[in-house]
Amino acid sequence: MKPVKVGLLGLGTVGTGVVRIVEAHQEDLQSQAGSSIVIEKVLVQNKSKSRNISIAQDKLTEDPWEVIRHPEIDVIVEVMGGIGHTKEYILEALSLGKHVVTANKDLMALHGPEILAKAKENRCDVLYEASVAGGIPILRTLVEGFSSDRITKIMGIVNGTTNYILTKMSQEGAAYADVLKEAQALGYAEADPTSDVEGLDAARKMTILATLGFRTNVNLEDVSAKGISAVSKEDILYAKRLGYELKLLGIAERQDDLISISVQPTMVKHSHPIASVNGVFNAVYVYGEAVGETMFYGAGAGELPTATSIVADLVAVVKNLKLGVNGKQSGIAYKETKLKTDEQ
Ligand code: NAP
Ligand code: HSE
Repeated sequence: MKPVKVGLLGLGTVGTGVVRIVEAHQEDLQSQAGSSIVIEKVLVQNKSKSRNISIAQDKLTEDPWEVIRHPEIDVIVEVMGGIGHTKEYILEALSLGKHVVTANKDLMALHGPEILAKAKENRCDVLYEASVAGGIPILRTLVEGFSSDRITKIMGIVNGTTNYILTKMSQEGAAYADVLKEAQALGYAEADPTSDVEGLDAARKMTILATLGFRTNVNLEDVSAKGISAVSKEDILYAKRLGYELKLLGIAERQDDLISISVQPTMVKHSHPIASVNGVFNAVYVYGEAVGETMFYGAGAGELPTATSIVADLVAVVKNLKLGVNGKQSGIAYKETKLKTDEQ
């Protein structure tokens, strides 16, 4: 099969990781996907910015349409973030028959149904494993690994930045504002970290997890979210003395036709494994009626862990291309029906 050409939207933390993995693992990718993968064009905001990766200057562009409408590009990898323009670019790419891989939970939590409907209409894949829990392949696991079960609860730490902050405050007595700056420098935080610290990023991820896990269409506005910006060092020390660790937990529960989803700082007993999930690590518990309790753990943010999920999605798209079955991953599609939430 001829090389599959990729248009990359964004060359920041995650985009850089994607280029590194595609280069470093090219041989393995080729043997798994059945074709080589070439990054053909890269959209950036500022071509002259100095970067910590070497990339041919002629691959870079500041014009999104040069990437999206490029006649030889088969797959668009969106790692630029944002909602407005980004949605427009993705919809245009899909209408041109290009497959899409994205890390954008904001977009998928808010506009997932519309994007997936457009993909279906054009027989395209839209894969978004990297949008939740960075390097943990949790979306594919929910859809494929639990297809024989009925999931009743999904719970976990799904934001790396806030877990990094809470860990440093708890273990080193560090100041909230200093650790937030560190998390930004390490590339964990969102462009506007308010969504991390106020719990919105976790709420968006819980929306995606609940939608796929409960096989229904969950709306972001049905998720109640409270972040960690009001948590003090004293709160953390107090909890510790009582035998608890403070963690920002997302909890999605289903009882018959009723679901409830929340994100909030929660006291977790030291004896519970989630209390020792530290730093940028995430953990997701999934409870199935038949399987019982399962736990998935790994890096929740950062360059290479997140890019691992992106490139795995890329391999899936290329395999589908080879088999001619793109747009048929029906398990990842949103359903039309909607369960009631406890707000209704
Ligand atoms: P980032 O470091 O801020 O990089 C964003 C990249 O997109 C930059 O290369 C920037 O160009 C480019 N860009 C942004 N807006 C643009 C525009 N309007 N036009 C052209 N180029 C534009 O972001 P990131 O941390 O890699 O995150 C990217 C996406 O992945 C976000 O949706 C985020 O939520 C998601 N995500 C991130 C992580 C993580 O650990 N960072 C993990 C999971 C998911 P310049 O380089 O020229 O500025
Ligand atoms: N800002 C996000 C986090 C990136 O800290 O978890 C990964 O989605």
